[in-house]
Amino acid sequence: MNKKRVKKQVVNKGASERTTRLCASLIGMSMLSFTTVSWAAETIHHHEVNVEQAIEQRQAAFSDIDSTTRSVARALKQDDVDWVWVSEKADELQQHSQRLSGLFPLGSAEGSKTKEKVWDNKHQGAFHTGLAHMDAGFVALYHAAQKQNRQAALQGVEEAQSTCKGCHRQFRALW
Ligand code: HEC
Repeated sequence: MNKKRVKKQVVNKGASERTTRLCASLIGMSMLSFTTVSWAAETIHHHEVNVEQAIEQRQAAFSDIDSTTRSVARALKQDDVDWVWVSEKADELQQHSQRLSGLFPLGSAEGSKTKEKVWDNKHQGAFHTGLAHMDAGFVALYHAAQKQNRQAALQGVEEAQSTCKGCHRQFRALW
């Protein structure tokens, strides 16, 4: 065996050790990225659940706002106003409208009728002003109901109802 050959064998041994180490670290890395990927998938999944719930809850809140506002308006036009009932409904409306601004998480347009515009810098101010305006109407209704003030209560209802169409035209998709 000459010297040159021995040297080559040593070199090869070093190379194969390096290969083994490289393999080990590749396996380690792929395990790590596998963990990262499944963790990310779980996060996305979790996020989707929240988005779905937010969509469901805001649609339910708007539907209830729609029917309850109409019933309250009718009740306020009766000779005998049932103030206990009106107060309860006013409280419910106020709670719905206050929760709404938190039910539009970023990325929740898909699967709903909300337009992307709700989240862009140029338009989101108008959207939140619209919600705040509707809320102010329901708060006014609630206070008027406490005082059994029919005129002020009707004004509150009308104020809230004056915000629906404008916002829908701008921020709600037709299909
Ligand atoms: C600031 C904006 C804004 C205001 C104010 C507003 N809405 Fe809406 N409304 C929306 C958006 C956006 C949707 C679409 C929700 C979705 O599908 O994601 C919607 C959806 C609805 C729906 C459909 C719910 C469903 O099940 O799909 C009804 C009913 C509704 N609104 C009624 C009203 C009434 C009544 C008022 C006024 C008293 C009102 N809205 C005020 C923005 C608004």
